Amino acid sequence: MTRACQDWGFFMVINHGVPENLLSSILDGCKGFFDLPEEEKQEFKGNHVLDPIRSGTSCNVSVEKAFYWRDFLKFFVHPVFYSPTKPAGLSEISLEYSQRVREVARGLLKGISESLGLEGSYIDKALNLEQGKQIFVANLYPTCPQPELAMGLPPHSDHGLLTLLIYNGIGGLQIQHEGKWVNVCALPNSFLVNTGDHLEILSNGRYKSVLHRAMVNSKATRISIAMIHGPSLDSVVSPATELLVSSKGNEPAAYVGMKYKDYLELQQSNKLDGKSCLDRVRSSSLATASVCVPNHEGNNDTSMIS
Ligand code: OGA
Ligand code: NI
Repeated sequence: MTRACQDWGFFMVINHGVPENLLSSILDGCKGFFDLPEEEKQEFKGNHVLDPIRSGTSCNVSVEKAFYWRDFLKFFVHPVFYSPTKPAGLSEISLEYSQRVREVARGLLKGISESLGLEGSYIDKALNLEQGKQIFVANLYPTCPQPELAMGLPPHSDHGLLTLLIYNGIGGLQIQHEGKWVNVCALPNSFLVNTGDHLEILSNGRYKSVLHRAMVNSKATRISIAMIHGPSLDSVVSPATELLVSSKGNEPAAYVGMKYKDYLELQQSNKLDGKSCLDRVRSSSLATASVCVPNHEGNNDTSMIS
């Protein structure tokens, strides 16, 4: 676990116990949503990052000279469960899927706590995962006539602690490893897991969140479901004090504490730009005094990031 989180920030989980037919039915359910007529999808549009259900498109939207090619549907599934009411059945399947994936994520976070030399329940208790935010993000990447001119999702890291992703067998995810983009493909019925910004903060930078992006192709439509697991919205996330003292002496906290909710607003108020949001909570950036001041004005593109 230490090596997976430290060297890659990314790993695959098999034998996780979530039934195969649940994985295929949730992918089908999301396809059903994306196939709805535009005006029906509009009912679930949402605007603000804290709206519980949001959907939209960035197909054909040109942001800083690149074309993005993706539709999305995001909804909060924990601590309060929300879901679009269409298509029929999506709500029931997504409730079951969310609960099962949450169990897997909590199990992984226990192992991750231990791999940091902390008690297994450390992250669970410190970040109040009983009330933890869990966000369901479905992505649709239609076939793109000129994939070399477009991108599904630009390079970003995920907020939260851990993201568990599945997709419909069509590749497109790339992660950055030692400065190079690496194609990622999963075994059927596995979860692709990546570490998020809040694990980087909690671990005082031992486990860096991984930069990743989604490419598009001209042959087949790709659907992915990323499930983001974060602290409770009102948890203030800062480096675990236990990690700041060791036999070698004291280690300075590399990040300042910030409420998860404030971080979400801050991230969405910035243009999506790699891991720039994390820079805002780095201790060294305190002098610029930009911490904790989400900008609610301006030209916010809240559609891009989860
Ligand atoms: C995301 C994400 C990658 C993919 O939704 O945050 O990184 O493969 N998705 O769709
Ligand atoms: Ni992501």
